[in-house]
Amino acid sequence: MRTSCITTTGVPCCAVSESGGDGLPGIRISPLPSVEAVAEVAAQALLEACREEPRRPLGLATGRTMVPVYRALVGQVSRLSVREREEIRLRWWSFNLDEYVGLGPAEQGSFAAEMHRNLSEPLGIDADRVLLPDGLAKDPEEEARRYSEALHRAGGIGLQILGLGLNGHVGFNEPPCEEHSPTRCVELCATTRQANASAFNHDLSRVPTRAITLGLSDILAAQRILLVVTGSAKAPILKRLLETSPSSDLPASWLHHHPSVQLLADPSALEA
Ligand code: GLP
Repeated sequence: MRTSCITTTGVPCCAVSESGGDGLPGIRISPLPSVEAVAEVAAQALLEACREEPRRPLGLATGRTMVPVYRALVGQVSRLSVREREEIRLRWWSFNLDEYVGLGPAEQGSFAAEMHRNLSEPLGIDADRVLLPDGLAKDPEEEARRYSEALHRAGGIGLQILGLGLNGHVGFNEPPCEEHSPTRCVELCATTRQANASAFNHDLSRVPTRAITLGLSDILAAQRILLVVTGSAKAPILKRLLETSPSSDLPASWLHHHPSVQLLADPSALEA
């Protein structure tokens, strides 16, 4: 099955790819039969990237889309031999996309807590191998710079996994957002806070108004990007993303400029 998408070069990009990029810009679409299949393929890609040499950190995301991905990853790791499991545990090195300003690992709703619950704890990975911006830092702008510098010192992201916000954000790069936006502190859109309120018992007043996010510049510097989109609620924004030329109105549209982006989507996300 081949699905076409529009590239910014105007060249139709039609491909279903199992691995890396072909050096041409454009999003390669991999339609998969179910959310579970998407999660298994994404988890497999993370496992393979974790074993690669030379080693570069993984770029990780949070959110509902990622819950089945980390569940699948934990399942895949549990089926490895003891030696292989230990290898993954010791080799793990990741930078998350974002964190809410004002929330730390102990707070319900923080991305640090989510990563601990869904990944570090079940896999037995030390917390200092699963890095996130410090939401409790006194100066969030300074923390964003520190985090970006730490990522640069690490050589940048190898494989970056991304979810897609309902308004087209990646990480917390809310529209409008330029292609070269730096890692920084941002104000969250009302719609994003609403969409994420479920992690705060649906109490909107508890959803932070600001976050630290990797900028598009650091995201696009990743060697490879895996965009994971599932569910019918994402279908309209995904359709727009695949049909649009890059523009600041749709932050994820800058992915069209990257040479190696693969989209994993279930049927309902592709049905619009
Ligand atoms: C969130 C996060 C993103 C996430 C996206 C989609 O707000 N900042 O990293 O990928 O929006 O979230 P979800 O998977 O819950 O729809």
